[in-house]
Amino acid sequence: MSDWSGESIVILDFGSQYTQLIARKIRAQKVFSNILPNSASIDEIVAEKPAGIILSGSPASVLGKKAPGLKADIFSLGLPVLGVCYGMQLISIDRGGNVDKSDHREFGHTVIDVESDNPLFRGTPAKQRVWMSHGDKVNSLPAGFETIASTEGCPIAAMENRKERIFGLQFHPEVYHTDHGEAILRNFIIDICGCEPTWSSASFADREIEKIRETVGESRVLCAVSGGVDSSVMAVLVDKAIGKRLCPVFVDNGLLRDREAEEVKELLSEYLTTDLVFVDAADEFLKRLDGVTDAEKKRKIIGKCFIDIFEEQSRIHGPFDFLAQGTLYPDIIESRSTVGPSATIKSHHNVGGLPEDMKFDLVEPLSLLFKDEVREVGMYLGLPERQIKRHPFPGPGLAVRVPGAIRRPDLDVLRQVDRIFIDGLKKSGLYDEVWQAFAVLLPVKSVGVMGDERTYQNAVVLRAVTSTDGMTADWAKLPFDFLQDISNEIINRVDGVNRVVYDISTKPPSTIEWE
Ligand code: XMP
Repeated sequence: MSDWSGESIVILDFGSQYTQLIARKIRAQKVFSNILPNSASIDEIVAEKPAGIILSGSPASVLGKKAPGLKADIFSLGLPVLGVCYGMQLISIDRGGNVDKSDHREFGHTVIDVESDNPLFRGTPAKQRVWMSHGDKVNSLPAGFETIASTEGCPIAAMENRKERIFGLQFHPEVYHTDHGEAILRNFIIDICGCEPTWSSASFADREIEKIRETVGESRVLCAVSGGVDSSVMAVLVDKAIGKRLCPVFVDNGLLRDREAEEVKELLSEYLTTDLVFVDAADEFLKRLDGVTDAEKKRKIIGKCFIDIFEEQSRIHGPFDFLAQGTLYPDIIESRSTVGPSATIKSHHNVGGLPEDMKFDLVEPLSLLFKDEVREVGMYLGLPERQIKRHPFPGPGLAVRVPGAIRRPDLDVLRQVDRIFIDGLKKSGLYDEVWQAFAVLLPVKSVGVMGDERTYQNAVVLRAVTSTDGMTADWAKLPFDFLQDISNEIINRVDGVNRVVYDISTKPPSTIEWE
């Protein structure tokens, strides 16, 4: 539950791939928005104290047997409602209109004629380009509704019931391709719902700090920090709220990058009131990983070893009533079932793995934020930019970047290569241009020649990708001159490497990591 009383918008999620985009577009207008599953009860919706409700699109058809419907009688609340695509069709059916299968699926750009003096379209042109993606359409209006936009193929492209402030759009205002989508959403949330545009990541952080103080009281809180953006911002935020009563634990698993453990220690000790509990567990991790070649086995061993060590630290430094985690909003939304009768929350990575007798209440101060908003909170809390803009780094660390069995000397070679690549990207101003970059040490030796001697050494892969969320990725088109310089530097300086290759695969069908 959020507490942006009367200033926020609730989005009921019917499973569209664009639902999160609606939330982001609303927040970009400085208004808080929270996505609830379509199964949310009226009480859950009212608890958000929203100023308006948006019904998202869906991959389902309202005419299908398993179509997710409106569970709560949202119209009884008297709030403005906007239905987008599937949402508009649901409104139509619920209010006694009719929906039919289109003769053909309409997908892509369409020009619509709109009633430009309508409150929803105010300030936008009478003819405008929108993005359609639907197979069904409203073909007769419910009582009390009027058509406010149309296209040749879709005579009811938007509808309204002005008296009750209920609107429907057949197209998607949230996507970039709808030329005036931003203005349409703004008209809805600011003019029609009356929201004040005052929300920001900073105001959110201030309220979260207050909330943590209230929730935690005089109790103590345990948290794990990895040095990544999410856990660092989370720890600094919780620290601002309760200071010394936070116990941050950092576990060095021996699979970190060059100087990474020291850097995290230095940085966090500057920003946290309490001393970091620093656990050097490299020997334990590497012992358990000895001879293991299967990637999934490596992940399981690393996960279990982390839990064992974390549990031991919690006993040494405890007791604790709360565990703070850097869970983000997409983790929460994606772990909900959108079409099932009830929302099931998947157990999160860390907590899910904790033993039965380690029971904590959770503090998840970032769980309503998207990644870029977490970065903004980090800036607001004064964390340095180099920390906020760090590339993602996987939990199993370098273990998944040394395909096959892990040997300490190989990790050392990989660290040197990775350092040269990442430093090079930073020096050339390319680090922030890519989403993630790293090196992989292949268990492959090839012949080379250095001076008069033949060599037989390892090949390394450089991988740099562009992406927005890691779900899909393209290989980064790094300049050839840069790649040539880095390759020379690696081969000249790193003993044991005589070949460098650049990975030009996209995800899908490849993945970002090699294991
Ligand atoms: P893939 O290789 O699946 O990676 O395309 C997508 C993103 O996830 C990261 N990744 C992981 N992160 N534990 C993590 O915490 C893991 O086991 C793991 N495997 C991959 C990867 O670095 C990339 O950012």
